[in-house]
Amino acid sequence: MKVLCLNGPNLNRLGKREKEAYGTFTLDELEADLMEFAEENGINLMCMQSNHEGELIDWIHLAADDGTEGIVLNAGAYTHTSVAIRDAIAAVHVPVVEVHISNVYKREEFRQHSYIAPVAAGQITGFGQDVYKLALHALLLKQARG
Ligand code: DQA
Repeated sequence: MKVLCLNGPNLNRLGKREKEAYGTFTLDELEADLMEFAEENGINLMCMQSNHEGELIDWIHLAADDGTEGIVLNAGAYTHTSVAIRDAIAAVHVPVVEVHISNVYKREEFRQHSYIAPVAAGQITGFGQDVYKLALHALLLKQARG
């Protein structure tokens, strides 16, 4: 199974930013750990990060045309603001699992609305860095069920 893991704005600052909300692991550590998990589970995984909305949209479009079968997306703050990312997801036929490291429903009210959730296959939030592995699991199970 071919999967894209896409991280949005400020997630390149993991390990340095708001550790109480996001933990102490870095994006490099997170991606290396996820790559290992993907290999063990027969997933061909590509990891990308961008701070730019348009670049994230370009990656979503590209995934639609290169045989990618699932996207794990942490859109960061764009989750709560971006109609354009929502439309990009709606424009492709690739299941998207929305993930958040922190439990956004325990935090500020503005984090409790997601533009992405209505067009996502599902949402996993609040389990720290494990949300990415849980999302890969979800995609594998979804594919197995057809
Ligand atoms: C986040 C939650 C968002 O509200 C925030 O803007 C982020 C990270 C998370 O992973 O918990 O940048 O998506």
